[in-house]
Amino acid sequence: MKIATASDHAGYELKKGIMAYLSEKGINYEDFGCSSEERVDYVDYAEKAIKNVLSGDCDRAILFCGTGIGMAIVANKFKGVRATPCWDEYAAEVSRSHNNSNCLTLGGRVLPLDEAISIVRVWIKTDFEGGRHGRRINKILDIEEKNFMS
Ligand code: RB5
Repeated sequence: MKIATASDHAGYELKKGIMAYLSEKGINYEDFGCSSEERVDYVDYAEKAIKNVLSGDCDRAILFCGTGIGMAIVANKFKGVRATPCWDEYAAEVSRSHNNSNCLTLGGRVLPLDEAISIVRVWIKTDFEGGRHGRRINKILDIEEKNFMS
C-alpha cells in the first residue's frame, strides 16, 4: 500500500511525526507538501495528494491541518473520496470497517503525536466489512453519480 501525505503549516509537525512512524514501519508513502511551518492554504495540498490517490498512484491519503476538518472538507469534494477526520482509535476503526475511508484527516492542533500514531496504526490495519455497510457505500456512490459533473 502507498499512502499520499500532505499538510498545511498547522499540520506540518504532526505530519513529520507520522511520516517518521510510517518509515519506521516500512509503510510506503509519498509526501505532497507543505515542507515547513510557513503559512499556506490547506486546500492546495489536499488537492495535490487526492489527485494522486484518484490517479491510482497512491492507494489512500493521510492529510493534516489544524483540526483535520478543512482537509476533510476539501478531500470530500472529489468523487470517490471518503475522507474521515478521526480523533481516537474507535473512530479510526469504524471509519474503515463501516465507512471504507480512503482518506484519514488529522488535526495537528488537537492531537498529540502518540494518539495520532495509534489512530494511523488502526486506520491502516482495519479492513472494510462490506455487507450492510457496502450497501450504504453504494448509496453514497449513487449520490455521487447524481451530483458530480464528471
Ligand atoms: C490554519 O490556521 C487552519 O485554519 C487550518 O489548518 C485548518 O485547521 C482548517 O481546517
